Amino acid sequence: MTPKEKEDLLRFAVNLARKAGTITLDYYGKITDVDWKEDLSPVTKADKEAEKWMRGRIRETFPDHGIIGEEFGTENPGSPVQWILDPIDGTRSFIHRIPLYTTLIGITVENRPEIGVIYAPVTDELCEAATGLGAKYNGRECRAGSAKDLSSATLLSTDITTIRQEGLFEPFSELLDRVRLHRTWGDAYGHMMVAAGRADIMFDPVLNIWDAAALMPVLQESGGLFLDFRGEASINSGHGFSSSRHLAGEVLDVMARYQRNKL
Ligand code: IPD
Ligand code: CA
Ligand code: CA
Repeated sequence: MTPKEKEDLLRFAVNLARKAGTITLDYYGKITDVDWKEDLSPVTKADKEAEKWMRGRIRETFPDHGIIGEEFGTENPGSPVQWILDPIDGTRSFIHRIPLYTTLIGITVENRPEIGVIYAPVTDELCEAATGLGAKYNGRECRAGSAKDLSSATLLSTDITTIRQEGLFEPFSELLDRVRLHRTWGDAYGHMMVAAGRADIMFDPVLNIWDAAALMPVLQESGGLFLDFRGEASINSGHGFSSSRHLAGEVLDVMARYQRNKL
């Protein structure tokens, strides 16, 4: 893919995320019906409408491309270009009328995460990146922070319950003891905060491919890292964290000490 083709795809993905996010705003604060999926996560009409709309636009514009979406599964699985969609990341926030939810679009080319867009419709914050082309946060350069050690770091997570359920409370607890501040500005919004230099580590114990695909290009192009807890740059591991490059080693040391046999 040439840089121009990549830039064009990024522009399309940014417009798609903005429009899908705007669809969710029509339902924000008005949700009365919530369905619970097999994995016990909630879904609303807004999640489904936003994903349906994105799928329709991708299908009519790029009929050969593949789609993996949280709510409606897989199309064209053999295509080298895959659109990976999470219409509302942070549905629990969305349902509770907390503005920190996002629409996520990742694009992989031959399994490499190449493009990522994170859009928070309520706060109108947008992070976009394509490999080799840099990252932007609200149209300006997006740079991950420069905290040099844990003692000056702000650590984010979505919640503590899931961390405990995944057997990761011990290493997380060590991180809590060593950082300056912990907040739960979580889900993909937390990863965007790390990319934009407003927080230093976002710890995520459970990630599906649609949670992770947009994050990796955004973090890498911001000068940060998105890694799984073994230190691999993967969107398929089921867990991971974002951080500045300086801090990733310290996080991985903590994880390795507690998790040698578990991850
Ligand atoms: C959730 C968020 C959360 C992650 C969960 C996901 P949803 O997504 O991405 O950060 O830890 O595993 O289910 O359901 O709000 O799109
Ligand atoms: Ca999600
Ligand atoms: Ca979702």
